[in-house]
Amino acid sequence: MTQSLTILGLESSCDDTAAAVVRREADGSVRILSSIVFDQADLHRAYGGVVPEIAARAHAEKLDHCVRDALQHADLGLGDLDAIAVTAGPGLIGGVISGVMCAKGLAAATGLPLIGVNHLAGHALTPRLTDAIAYPYLMLLVSGGHCQYLIARGAEDFSRLGGTIDDAPGEAFDKTARLLGLPQPGGPAVQQEAASGDARRFRFPRPLLDRDDCNLSFSGLKTALMRLRDQLIAEKGGLTRQDRADLCAGFQAAVVDVLGEKTKRALQIYLQENPAVPTVAVAGGVAANTAIRHRLETICADFGAAFTAPPLALCTDNAAMIAYAGMERFEAGARDGMDLSARPRWPLDQSSPAMLGSGKKGAKA
Ligand code: KG4
Ligand code: ZN
Repeated sequence: MTQSLTILGLESSCDDTAAAVVRREADGSVRILSSIVFDQADLHRAYGGVVPEIAARAHAEKLDHCVRDALQHADLGLGDLDAIAVTAGPGLIGGVISGVMCAKGLAAATGLPLIGVNHLAGHALTPRLTDAIAYPYLMLLVSGGHCQYLIARGAEDFSRLGGTIDDAPGEAFDKTARLLGLPQPGGPAVQQEAASGDARRFRFPRPLLDRDDCNLSFSGLKTALMRLRDQLIAEKGGLTRQDRADLCAGFQAAVVDVLGEKTKRALQIYLQENPAVPTVAVAGGVAANTAIRHRLETICADFGAAFTAPPLALCTDNAAMIAYAGMERFEAGARDGMDLSARPRWPLDQSSPAMLGSGKKGAKA
């Protein structure tokens, strides 16, 4: 490596409009020079979920500002960049189109190369950006829209070991919070309630643990919670604080057990085909949950595997991960043309069967 490489990344696949500048220095080290995220939570709050049309319009309005701020914070101009990377899917199609059109406009105006990035690859490569971990490694992506186990072998070389067949875990936390009248996003609220609850009071299912694979299911947990809640209301006319805390604790314990057991399976499957124990990395908003993190840490310690979780700002949607994933593609010689298309679905592992369903944050890949 003799020259530095500076990439602008754009992200607009869900409800965060983001731009970032990432640089690989001549010595090979990588630095985030800026990372701007405009979150749209206020625009969607009244609707209880992301409204695709509102999201797309807001992205189109904000992307220019994000790019300007990202360049300003990095103290750079467009002329200092080597390429423009943009999320080209999967996600809510209107938002993805906004980002791709903005990136094409910038590329056409500057003559810079254009690199389309898979949003999931952005998440999956983040541990390389933050911790410089080497390929191959085992990745658990857990967010409001995604849940999958991946073996990452290269910037465009992933094997999916399994994933959710219905809701993503963050979605289940959010629905649980809604059912119990707790604020959104539900994850932090449920975690806080669970801290004072008794996880053994109510029985929650542990879906799909009877199967040897790495597939997961979370929609049954939400149904179980709704039944328990309705039963309590029918019996006592309402929920006490303790009822709510115990329901949250029971729900969270089930998610922790399921993710823990499936992580063990993912490690076992990995070790059947690979000789060395891998580093295990987790990313996505749900990785903020301390009970989940602790269980994963314990399991990794039992297997003798290193465990890494990027800082939260880089676990959730951001453009630094897109710039970084674009950088790896760029370094591998990849370039996209003006025919780069926005893709609502774009599985990382093209050979594994498509996952079912479509989450609140768009199609599941
Ligand atoms: O990665 P993210 O910001 O957005 C996408 O889904 O792409 O993840 C947001 C999700 C929300 O569903 C939120 O409830 C969940 O992450 N979350 C948590 C916690 N903090 C955020 N879930 C469980 N425990 C938490 N502490
Ligand atoms: Zn994401």
